Amino acid sequence: MRVKIVKDYKAISEAAADVVEAALKGKPDLVLGLATGSTPLGMYEELIKRHQGGMDFSKATTFNLDEYFGLSSDHQASYHYYMEEQLFRHINIDPANTYIPNGINPDPMEECKNYETQMKTAGGIDLQILGIGTNGHIGFNEPGAPFGGTTSLVDLAQETVNANARFFQKLDEVPRQAISMGIKSIMNCAEIVLLANGAHKADAVSQALLGPVTEKLPASVLQLHPNCLFIIDEAAAAKLPIT
Ligand code: F6R
Repeated sequence: MRVKIVKDYKAISEAAADVVEAALKGKPDLVLGLATGSTPLGMYEELIKRHQGGMDFSKATTFNLDEYFGLSSDHQASYHYYMEEQLFRHINIDPANTYIPNGINPDPMEECKNYETQMKTAGGIDLQILGIGTNGHIGFNEPGAPFGGTTSLVDLAQETVNANARFFQKLDEVPRQAISMGIKSIMNCAEIVLLANGAHKADAVSQALLGPVTEKLPASVLQLHPNCLFIIDEAAAAKLPIT
């Protein structure tokens, strides 16, 4: 696992956009895995700017990590809505090539199976962008999620519900379940870039990088991935021993 420590959030966003840009240049029909939440917002802003300067997404395909269970794509807190607002409507990606689990499929098991099939049919994810929860989750794979898990309907940890309440009017409106790619689905991606900023992520980052590889800290599995880069700012790196 490689770690790039940069000064601040802006530098994370630019470094992450550099990785996406290089991947897209090397493979215009890139299959790109995307995350939501606060962390990748700056990277999306940067990608939009670069698209305005000519970066071409017309042949790319995207797969998002997760979607809240029970939220339709027009719900303002859904990840469908987020992706549309924060990226898709600003770039030249073909909407038919943007995949996000359908949070209102009445048969979530079928949805999960289809999502895995769609990823396989697309040839697998070339580059996956991840954030990290304060409890070490990746996607919505909460502590205890099996390393062998594929896309499934998962329960959100109370810590995650609390952390994500900022996107809703009231705490009770936060869905308690989500459809999320599993740890195995994430580990199958050819390249992974995890982004983290802020002092509140420092514990999770240091445990993911230096702690034991354990299902109790889902991101620790990334120590076993052959091509994974953490791009973190100084605040998120504060608990790492710097040589
Ligand atoms: C989002 C996702 C989550 C977030 C994580 C960090 O699609 O899968 O794992 O990346 O909860 O969220 P933020 O960036 O809001 O701190």
